[in-house]
Amino acid sequence: MKLPSLHIGELIAKVPIIQGGMGVGVSGSSLASAVANEGGIGIISGVQIGFREEDFEKNNKDANLRGLRKEIRKARELSPNGILGVNLLVAINNYKEMVKAAVEEKINLIISGAGLPKDLPELIKGSNTKIAPVVSSGKAAALITKLWDRKFGYIPDLVIVEGPEAGGHLGFSKEELTSSKKIELTEIVKEVIESLKPFKEKYKKDIPVIAAGGIFDGIDIAKYLKIGANGVQMGTRFVATHECDADIEYKNAYINSKEEDIQLVKSPVGLPGRAIYNKFIEDIRTRNIPVEKCYNCLVPCDAKSTPYCITKALIEAVKGNAKDGLIFSGTNAYKLDKIVSVKELMKELIKEAEAAL
Ligand SMILES: Cc1cc2nc3c(=O)[nH]c(=O)nc-3n(C[C@H](O)[C@H](O)[C@H](O)COP(=O)(O)O)c2cc1C
Repeated sequence: MKLPSLHIGELIAKVPIIQGGMGVGVSGSSLASAVANEGGIGIISGVQIGFREEDFEKNNKDANLRGLRKEIRKARELSPNGILGVNLLVAINNYKEMVKAAVEEKINLIISGAGLPKDLPELIKGSNTKIAPVVSSGKAAALITKLWDRKFGYIPDLVIVEGPEAGGHLGFSKEELTSSKKIELTEIVKEVIESLKPFKEKYKKDIPVIAAGGIFDGIDIAKYLKIGANGVQMGTRFVATHECDADIEYKNAYINSKEEDIQLVKSPVGLPGRAIYNKFIEDIRTRNIPVEKCYNCLVPCDAKSTPYCITKALIEAVKGNAKDGLIFSGTNAYKLDKIVSVKELMKELIKEAEAAL
């Protein structure tokens, strides 16, 4: 069967695959535009996106706002007709200004996780930008939707359901992630679909549900579509592409990793993260790495007591310091053995999914 397209209001993605936002700098204009050009949705990560700006150290806030605008414009130039979004973590300090800048740049979609984006509808008012919270349970989906409904008379344009196998920060406690009782993404997706039903009826509006975390091939994509998801969000697979914005050493760390290297790490965000084992992870398990320069990036981080500076660790990684950087990845990174083009990857995923549907 042919893959269904993904409808988000008037936006139609030919292919129901969203490339997840990956910070810092892993998904920028190059990767996002390549995915958008293949009919999927390309997401630029907004976290510390100004890290290549000259004044990033001195003038962090302005550098990030400028970096975000530049990256959106570059992606739009490379994909004039594709669907482009940005991922902005609720936990960042300049969240509101970053959302406003993205809206002014006429971004199609804003995805927001690492906390509930309580005021997001207010910030996009009067624009065509669509908004999506990232949730990890039916309860959280109902909570944010009810809140938006009551406060703004608005419901999400789509909902990303991220399960325990995703890369980066995870919406589960370490205990939940290491418990012998496995948390199944399929079950959470079904729960979320159920929890959104009353709101869809009230507003006579569809809320597409997107499954994310551990989706590796077209067979996985078909599995989630069959249980009622409208699409998938994938991160890890897109790292091993030529177009991914990270340094080649970042991609090589994926290609060279083994299953046992994919591990949980603590993060100043206050949520567990998943990353590839290296010297950096060994270091933070034995000691706190003192913060030399605080970027004041995260609301929940205290520079004096944090185990390490996450901005520095992620920037080191994306620039190719595979030893002393934090290389976020999903559970499936070890399955990758080569770097391909986004075109090849999308073609393969579509072919496999259509065969399995
Ligand atoms: C390197 C990396 C960085 C990520 N950074 C972010 C981020 O900044 N914000 C976010 O909401 N999700 C982030 N994620 C999660 C992805 O957007 C995506 O939802 C998730 O990785 C999907 O699971 P998969 O990697 O198994 O496909 C990141 C994932 C990876 C692999």
